[in-house]
Amino acid sequence: MGELRSRRSVLAVPGSNPRFVDKARGLGTDAFFLDLEDAVAPSEKEAARGTVVRALTEGGWDGRVRSVRVNDTTTEWAYRDVIAVVEGAGADLDSIVLPKVTAARDVEWLDTLLTQIERAVGLPVGRIGIEAQIEDARGLVNVDSIAASSPRLESLVYGPADFMASITMKSLVVGEQPPGYDTGDAYHYVLMRILTAARANGVQAIDGPCLQIRDVDALRRSAGRTAALGYDGKWVLHPLQVEAANEAFSPSQEDYDHAELVLDAYAHATTVDRRGAVMLGEEMLDEASRKMALVVAGKGRAAGL
Ligand code: GLV
Ligand code: MG
Repeated sequence: MGELRSRRSVLAVPGSNPRFVDKARGLGTDAFFLDLEDAVAPSEKEAARGTVVRALTEGGWDGRVRSVRVNDTTTEWAYRDVIAVVEGAGADLDSIVLPKVTAARDVEWLDTLLTQIERAVGLPVGRIGIEAQIEDARGLVNVDSIAASSPRLESLVYGPADFMASITMKSLVVGEQPPGYDTGDAYHYVLMRILTAARANGVQAIDGPCLQIRDVDALRRSAGRTAALGYDGKWVLHPLQVEAANEAFSPSQEDYDHAELVLDAYAHATTVDRRGAVMLGEEMLDEASRKMALVVAGKGRAAGL
């Protein structure tokens, strides 16, 4: 897990809109994806491929994870999206986001096509990763095999809007509890199911977007919940959401400092004192405490704390 690229904030950018693409270059997200799917009208799908290829090859993304979301495997656009983007800009691309993944075969199809294109154009085979969106009931039911479907898989991404529609949830606001449901978190099972499948296969778990783009508190609440569960990051749609997402998926300075202290204390206890359990102030530390501290310290180091 430690080797994976940082994705605390993943900016969604409509691939058909060069103005949005230019603006995205100036935003401090860890990652972004240029969208060829739901943010692009059917009449613009083909032209958007060229805009996306230009945006990637022109560069200016300094160090951010660069992705493209192609159309899903049931559409007539999917294969040409992949061919156009990887042939045109494969060297400037880190991963492909595949939406509406319903079974492992969707990811296997993309893996095979990527390998064919990489061989044809002389790119290193296997460098381009895959991110699979889980956004309907079939995707969730098959999430374990999807998570294990390819060595290219880097993340599972929860797609809340499509998911809510797919299970016919009676709600119009992504991220808020559905009206009438007052016994807990209506999304807990879905979120935990995706997270568990991701962790069992060493891939990241990313939360989808909040569509009320000016309601930063709503984003903070939603990101705070998934960050607390263990998610690695969240999609953002607007500059206002970026900082809130980066903050939510980084530990506080206090927690980070404490985690480093636990690691030092436990390392000293096991190597110098040769003890497996030790007190740090009022807190008892053992090997499991070290593992928890390692998670927080890892996130803090990645965030530059
Ligand atoms: C994202 O793709 C979503 O459906 O929420
Ligand atoms: Mg979707």
